[in-house]
Amino acid sequence: MPQLTWLGHGCWIIKTEKQTALLDPFLDDSPTAPCKAAEIYNIDVILVSHGHFDHVADLISIAKRTKAVVVANFEICEWASKQGVERTEPMNLGGGINLPLGRVTLTPAVHSSVLPDGTYGGSAGGFVIEADGKTIYFACDTALSADMQLLSSRKIDLAVLPIGDRYTMGPDDSLEAIRMIIPSRVAPAHYNTWPPIAQDAAVWAARVRAETSAEPVVVEPGGVIEV
Ligand code: NI
Ligand code: MN
Repeated sequence: MPQLTWLGHGCWIIKTEKQTALLDPFLDDSPTAPCKAAEIYNIDVILVSHGHFDHVADLISIAKRTKAVVVANFEICEWASKQGVERTEPMNLGGGINLPLGRVTLTPAVHSSVLPDGTYGGSAGGFVIEADGKTIYFACDTALSADMQLLSSRKIDLAVLPIGDRYTMGPDDSLEAIRMIIPSRVAPAHYNTWPPIAQDAAVWAARVRAETSAEPVVVEPGGVIEV
């Protein structure tokens, strides 16, 4: 069964039976990360949702050192290649690829995407990962979108949604998203990294229980979720 470890903000380790992935590497400059980029090893894949610094800050250093394959949209893969990253799997919205990790689909996100040096970052996305008989949805940075109701047919076992507000959807819209996606369980992300995106996850979890059919799963940075 897949095992997720939250590394704070939008950064996760996703361990499946065959491979381990790192999503949106942001560690050394993250106030809530439980480890540094240099402590990340034994990863096979790096998933990148979009080009903002709080999702790619440690991408190049970790990709070069671990030789993990970078899975992202075409623009982010080109940017990584130009900086010496050897292995990439470019994709675009709606496309999926089969990796030993599992099947990875790039889903639409309603957000912007520019890389730290100003390079155009393509469309922001999220990921659906199907592995070990489970389906996980990482919305990553996004607004609430009616497209999310299409995910209800995917029978999502765990949805990871942003709740920080300001730069992404906040708690109210996350509840609406849950009612469209209808996941079995839901975990919050992209909150409490800095004061402008502070949220009370316990209050959010109580509302998820009261107002949706999903079970909330809240962990601290460094915490593990068995999917
Ligand atoms: Ni962003
Ligand atoms: Mn972000």
